[in-house]
Amino acid sequence: MSDPESKTGQEMWGGRFDEPTDTFVQRFTASEAFDRRLAACDIQGSRAHANMLQKTGVLTQDENAAIQDGLSTVLSEIDAGQFQWLVEREDVHMNIEARLTELIGDTGKKLHTGRSRNDQVATDLRLYLRGEIDNACGEISRLQTALVMQAERHADTIMPGFTHLQVAQPVTFGHHLMAWYEMLDRDYLRLLDCRARLNVCPLGAAALAGTTFPIDRSATATAMGFDSPTRNSLDSVADRDFAIEFCAAAALVLNHLSRMSEELVLWTSAQFGFVALPDRFCTGSSIMPQKKNPDVPELVRGKSGRATGNLVALLTLMKSQPLAYNKDNQEDKETLFDSIDTLNDCLKAFADMIPAIEAIPSRMREAALQGFSTATDLADYLVRNGMPFRDAHEVVGHVVAHCIKADCDLATLPLETLKSFHAEIEEDVFEVLTLDGSVAARNHIGGTAPAQVRTAISMAKAALASR
Ligand code: ARG
Repeated sequence: MSDPESKTGQEMWGGRFDEPTDTFVQRFTASEAFDRRLAACDIQGSRAHANMLQKTGVLTQDENAAIQDGLSTVLSEIDAGQFQWLVEREDVHMNIEARLTELIGDTGKKLHTGRSRNDQVATDLRLYLRGEIDNACGEISRLQTALVMQAERHADTIMPGFTHLQVAQPVTFGHHLMAWYEMLDRDYLRLLDCRARLNVCPLGAAALAGTTFPIDRSATATAMGFDSPTRNSLDSVADRDFAIEFCAAAALVLNHLSRMSEELVLWTSAQFGFVALPDRFCTGSSIMPQKKNPDVPELVRGKSGRATGNLVALLTLMKSQPLAYNKDNQEDKETLFDSIDTLNDCLKAFADMIPAIEAIPSRMREAALQGFSTATDLADYLVRNGMPFRDAHEVVGHVVAHCIKADCDLATLPLETLKSFHAEIEEDVFEVLTLDGSVAARNHIGGTAPAQVRTAISMAKAALASR
């Protein structure tokens, strides 16, 4: 590391200080190691700020031109991995500004006129998060598209539907996949909602109270694609709601992915055998030669915990903080970045994996035939013959108990036996006792009938196409 006496934070605020910052404190208070990923956004903000200062007459055209050129050089140094990050310069903002000043001389020192790192970092974070939300939304759409394609392939594929993880009623695999689609659709909308609320520009709030310079906050906001400037300078530098909202939305996405993961882990087990994952999404065991483990869904399930933890960490970080900016806020970054990375990695894993999963319809059907999944259909049949539902429930309960003793399925009972439970049962009962009959009969909005699943699929396709 470089000499703490030379290019230190002291060059920024040295006037008031009698001694250099303690070496440990320097490292302890620095954020450059993790906030450097904001560099491109920081430079975008500085460009907008300098252009605005020229427009309002605070900077001359030449000064602004030098700053813009210098910032281009800084960015290309960073992109090329040639930038020398110095812990003595504390954070991304001061590293960039100090390097700019090295490159263009004293004009570089004018860039910070009328702003503070407090409004600067709030601006950077909003810009950065906005881009990451756009990326995540793109990945959610890609995953939803994959689900819709698989659902289309399996609109008629029958599997058991579960409650309490016990076989409940038959559904189609397409219907199940479209349930996942719906979960992700809410996630997509939540992220868009978060994006809309965060897209306001804090730049100009300066340290907390605004600035004495003639600034044009609407100009900087527009230049960076924000909808408007923020309305209150204190709130502008103190607010991290947008980061919390994002972490909450991300935690829900990961929560959903963990549920999907759990189902995939179950379904790929020998006991279920509903789905096969391609080898490239699995790993083997170092000792058991036969093993093929569903590592990707397992890891997504595991990583989802991070998102929950990060949300709680951010809420706790912000709780009870007095207005306006506090150094505590520097702790928002690693948490937020971890949620961003976890979200994007897990979405990518799923969006890559779902098109490649292979359903095994024969195993699904076999499982749906166990557990008397059409018992409700038999009760509904009796109701259609005039029996009150509660009585029908009782009668079918007896039929099921008989089947358990006789070790047979409802649909394989002879008509005579069924009639012994209720005289009005006729030959047509067997239509409702089949898996296909059961599924086809649930033919209403949101039902599992293949016709309804196809309607849901075409609506989903239209929604995805209009994004
Ligand atoms: N690195 C700081 C952060 O992430 C930037 C703002 C510093 N402001 C200050 N007044 N020390 O929050």
